[in-house]
Amino acid sequence: MSRVLVTGADGYIGRAVSARLEERLQAGELESLTLLDLGFQNEGAVFADERVLRISGDMGDAAVLARATSPAPSVVFHLAGIISRQAEDDFALGLQVNVIGTIALFERLRLLGRRPVVVCSSSIGVYGTPLPEAIDDRTPPAPTLSYGAEKLMMEILLAEYSRRGWLDGRTVRLPTVVARPTSANGALSSFASDLIRELAQGRHYTCPIGPEGSMWLLSLPACVASLLRAADVAADRLPAGRAWNLPALRAGAGEIVEALRRRFGAAVADRVRYQPVPGMRAQLAQWPPLSTGIADGLGFRHDGDLDTLIDNALGH
Ligand SMILES: NC(=O)c1ccc[n+]([C@@H]2O[C@H](COP(=O)([O-])OP(=O)(O)OC[C@H]3O[C@@H](n4cnc5c(N)ncnc54)[C@H](O)[C@@H]3O)[C@@H](O)[C@H]2O)c1
Repeated sequence: MSRVLVTGADGYIGRAVSARLEERLQAGELESLTLLDLGFQNEGAVFADERVLRISGDMGDAAVLARATSPAPSVVFHLAGIISRQAEDDFALGLQVNVIGTIALFERLRLLGRRPVVVCSSSIGVYGTPLPEAIDDRTPPAPTLSYGAEKLMMEILLAEYSRRGWLDGRTVRLPTVVARPTSANGALSSFASDLIRELAQGRHYTCPIGPEGSMWLLSLPACVASLLRAADVAADRLPAGRAWNLPALRAGAGEIVEALRRRFGAAVADRVRYQPVPGMRAQLAQWPPLSTGIADGLGFRHDGDLDTLIDNALGH
């Protein structure tokens, strides 16, 4: 039975991971669950279960980290971070949280001396422009965003702490996870979520990429399943570097609209207008064919097909 810590527990992915872990706690599969974030939307809510500890604070703060790691966790899902748009707009903040905050967490875990399993959420943003014609497990990351550079630093650090025997790290590179709620500081790729959500809810949507613009997508439930699976992979099956790409569905904006039309009726197609924003395509809408041999061999799966992805993304 494990003592689990989730950082970024009140974020889009963190909330979904935490909910799943609370179910496991109730099922007697976990010993305790600690949720850490800067703050929580439902701050006043009281957990009936005293094995769930919720901590509001900055993971870069030593006192906050000390509380969050007492008792020492045996499994950590490190999901706290500054995501792509904000990391690009505010370099100092991205560096502070994504790199310096991550080092603070790893150091705290190292000094506790318990060698926990640490699952980190990296991003396909470690690949930069010009994107290669195809990407597989051997494609070298070469980020051209601050966010991608910070994520790659995290991957390298986690591999190093693991090589030293201090942590048992696993980094999964997430594709665009859908369908996240609208957010001012959202991901640069959040148009994928907006496209699905707005059209599904009967609204009009102006798409900032053309119908041919291709994305790598994973629904939130499939993302949660992948993160939980990453914690369970036997250490001797992990690849060198302990980081790998997750399987994702590759789809064009036009194909997504077509799938939404199948699901919600012909009028969907009339509510979308394509107005490509210059410069977006190279990093965000030109994702090439993806092969994920390592992840496939370890049992990771994407949603299967676009119709299922849309159902999963919308929680149907
Ligand atoms: N959503 C995606 O499509 C996607 C894709 C690739 C990678 N990721 C990565 O997955 C992780 C979760 O992403 P998300 O979409 O849920 O992002 P999110 O912004 O919704 O959640 C991140 C959470 O981290 C918290 N946080 C930020 N700074 C903190 C600090 N100093 N101390 C404690 N908590 C802090 C925020 O308050 C927020 O709740 C991030 O690391 C992100 O980079 C997400």
